[in-house]
Amino acid sequence: MSDRINPFTPNFGQTPRHIAGRDLMISDIFDMLEGNIGSPARTSIFIGARGSGKTALLTYFASECLSRGWISVSVSCVPGMQEDILQQAAIASENLIPKEKKTHITGVSLGNLFSVEWAEESVQKPNWRTGITRLLEYLSENETGLLITIDEVRPSLDEMIQVASVYQLLIRENRKVALLMAGLPSEVSMLINDRSVSFLRRASQYYLERIEDHDIETAFRLTVADSGKSVGTDALDKAVRAINGFPYMMQLVGYRAWQDSGDKEQIDSENMERGIELAEKDFESRVLKATVNELSRGDIAFLRAMLPDEGKSDITSIISRMKKSSGYVSRYRARLIERGVIEAVSRGVVAFALPGLKEYLRGRKHLFGGE
Ligand SMILES: Nc1ncnc2c1ncn2[C@@H]1O[C@H](COP(=O)(O)OP(=O)(O)OP(=O)(O)O)[C@@H](O)[C@H]1O
Ligand SMILES: [Mg+2]
Repeated sequence: MSDRINPFTPNFGQTPRHIAGRDLMISDIFDMLEGNIGSPARTSIFIGARGSGKTALLTYFASECLSRGWISVSVSCVPGMQEDILQQAAIASENLIPKEKKTHITGVSLGNLFSVEWAEESVQKPNWRTGITRLLEYLSENETGLLITIDEVRPSLDEMIQVASVYQLLIRENRKVALLMAGLPSEVSMLINDRSVSFLRRASQYYLERIEDHDIETAFRLTVADSGKSVGTDALDKAVRAINGFPYMMQLVGYRAWQDSGDKEQIDSENMERGIELAEKDFESRVLKATVNELSRGDIAFLRAMLPDEGKSDITSIISRMKKSSGYVSRYRARLIERGVIEAVSRGVVAFALPGLKEYLRGRKHLFGGE
């Protein structure tokens, strides 16, 4: 029994065994991949705070597209990504061709084919648009589309703007191509406000918000069952409460509680309590600390002004506690919402969006030093 493998995936970028929630976005993307190419989901952006599951979703779509007639390339928005897209696509399409046909056509692998052709013609290496167009022509002969996923988008990278602009032209030419992007709220909003790629404003935007408790509960139970164990009802209730809709926390709690249950068949309440305690520490060091480190003094001052409130905070109280103008306060409100740190609950009311952040800040008054 001890050789059982822990089924939880508390690592960034790792696709969970059972995706909790996210039903609508998954069905929209599958519908598009399965033939509804005119769907607005063809160009989509997934927006969410750290640990909300952006990379996991992109990876999931990339792994599910082949059986639906698409090859995928997955890149992060970093220098060199254009070249990376071409190379990955060349390798993926090489694997598409049946072996007999491959020798029949060329006798060389497709990866080589591209570079050989380029070398022969090559007074000049073809530009990115030419390269990708050739690839798409080749793929369309094989009735295959190209799904490009770009993670951690940021508008400051020229290559991002170039890829998006060429992509727009490819769509106009009726090529079978789709683009799924993911990023933190602030980066995405800067990207779609970039004038040179304003068409991205019409992309489908999916916000990765808190997952419903009943979806967490189902995914948690199924994940445990995958390993041949089960989880008690009380234990599961405790887990759902501690997870509070946050995907990364689901993996941390599950992982720790599963470990704690050792060789037992069932994860009980005590295993869960210890698991939750450890998971909260993990969460603190990997998510809360990282998030707070990226904030400015003004952001922190805003959050500090929210701490006296038990639940939500009124903007009017924040203004009076910060002793600043409403214009100043609303600038920081917008920044923090874009970063996924707080959320607008209703008009003039905000709340912390990251679970545990309020308690974390309350325990760290030194962060506010000098204010
Ligand atoms: N829908 C989901 N259900 C269950 N677990 C999930 C879900 N989405 C993501 N996870 C898990 O949550 C963790 C974080 O996911 P992921 O790395 O995709 O987040 P992210 O939004 O890309 O974070 P970052 O902004 O830091 O890159 C991973 O351990 C992953 O397995
Ligand atoms: Mg990620």
